[in-house]
Amino acid sequence: MHRPDQMDPDDHVPPIDPSPDHVSSPRMPCGDRDVPAGWSRRRYLRASLATVASAAPKLGFRLGMAVLGCIGGLWAFLSLRFAVPNAAARNRLRFRAGPIREFTEEGVYARFRDSHGVWIVCLRISGTRRLLAYRAACTHLGCLTLWAEAEGEFQCPCHGSAFDLAGVNLRGPAPRPLDLCAIRAAGDGYVEIDASRVFRREAGQALPPDSYLLV
Ligand code: FES
Repeated sequence: MHRPDQMDPDDHVPPIDPSPDHVSSPRMPCGDRDVPAGWSRRRYLRASLATVASAAPKLGFRLGMAVLGCIGGLWAFLSLRFAVPNAAARNRLRFRAGPIREFTEEGVYARFRDSHGVWIVCLRISGTRRLLAYRAACTHLGCLTLWAEAEGEFQCPCHGSAFDLAGVNLRGPAPRPLDLCAIRAAGDGYVEIDASRVFRREAGQALPPDSYLLV
């Protein structure tokens, strides 16, 4: 018969391992799953805060270096873009307009106004027919001019400046005629325009040599 003061071999309780591993492994039941047994919630919180506080300077340094790296990369990219104009911008300023024979009729050719900011104009000056390319930007503050066929004028919608067929300013605040772009005939008979080379001029001034073609 089993007496209460006698221990059954199956009731044997294993001895507690006093090592730190053993001490830290037991956990609180569900709800306090990550709080080591024997720790108060306040103690656990304090220990967590101390861990975060000790790691913060290192984290801050790494974050700072990452941000500096990003800023440096962005700066290098933008510098490169500024130093090397992209091909699209180059093509917009220097372009082949078409065979010369397509521009021999006197008048305004508006097809490159929106795409390249240029008017091509064929007009008679001193008895000879010439082909010119005007910058479409108004010489006041740079608004794009419009061609008013009925009035035979380039008009600026911003402050009312107007220019005649020769590009000379007629009225409004524009201080000078429309600027001229470099124009040339390529070997294959095409008109080539370089709007990166611009000639400023005053009314009555002779046309610079590279600013017109005889057609
Ligand atoms: S920008 Fe053309 S009149 Fe002012």
